[in-house]
Amino acid sequence: MKILISGSSSGIGLSTTKQLLAMNHEVTGLSRQLEKAQLDHPNFSLLQLDLNELEDCDRKLKSLIKDQTFDCFIHCAGYGHFGSIEQFSVAQIDQAIRVNLTSALVLCRQLVPMFRHQKQGRLIFIGSESALNAGKKGALYSAAKFGLRGFCQALREDCSKDGITVSLINPGMVRSPFFDEQPFAPADQSENAIETEDVAKLICQILQTSTDIVMDEINLSPRVKSINFSPQSS
Ligand SMILES: NC(=O)c1ccc[n+]([C@@H]2O[C@H](COP(=O)([O-])OP(=O)(O)OC[C@H]3O[C@@H](n4cnc5c(N)ncnc54)[C@H](OP(=O)(O)O)[C@@H]3O)[C@@H](O)[C@H]2O)c1
Repeated sequence: MKILISGSSSGIGLSTTKQLLAMNHEVTGLSRQLEKAQLDHPNFSLLQLDLNELEDCDRKLKSLIKDQTFDCFIHCAGYGHFGSIEQFSVAQIDQAIRVNLTSALVLCRQLVPMFRHQKQGRLIFIGSESALNAGKKGALYSAAKFGLRGFCQALREDCSKDGITVSLINPGMVRSPFFDEQPFAPADQSENAIETEDVAKLICQILQTSTDIVMDEINLSPRVKSINFSPQSS
């Protein structure tokens, strides 16, 4: 399979990319940082893309799919920014919605016609438990992830007759560099966080399922949800 994946430089996207390559798929990663995201594998290539620069994304993707087709797009890129809404600048709000939500719409604007033309294609998005229930300090992140979930539901309806499947995975806490910038992180014991490899395995399972079946939304949580807060957070 020829697979396009965002967020291939880190966390869930990186683990997924490695598993896909081990399964002999051909993978093109999308990343801001070419050096960080480079993987030494003959079936791996990279396209530099900043999902905050939407016009540029649209242009680069259009040019990429002019020369080649893909069977699947996996959208892993995203980041968390948590706090009360008045703590964010307009620029911070704009960027979080762009990267976590609008980028999915912009990339699909190019990919869906290609999949429609092929009469097949898989779209897999990483949502969040914050797409299901919003909580304290999650206004900005949940706004984007709820939006992404709504987008996936509508897209699924729009595309199913054209052989396209749309899956949304909503994980709880995943142990990844996502928490490097946060004042909190899952507690150390294994039952408090999902591993990135487990999400990657789930993605690979979706790819092996018949295209007549849609795994529409999959929610997964760590068994326990203990969180460590850094001393200065309230
Ligand atoms: N970790 C969790 O607990 C958790 C739980 C639920 C959902 N999620 C979701 O899972 C997805 C992956 O997160 P992760 O845990 O794997 O975090 P991660 O290790 O921090 O990876 C985030 C990825 O997103 C990319 N990215 C961020 N901003 C970007 C931008 N402007 N343009 C292009 N790429 C950008 C990063 O690329 P660079 O290398 O360029 O920074 C990186 O590859 C995100 O959508 C996140 O919201 C995470």
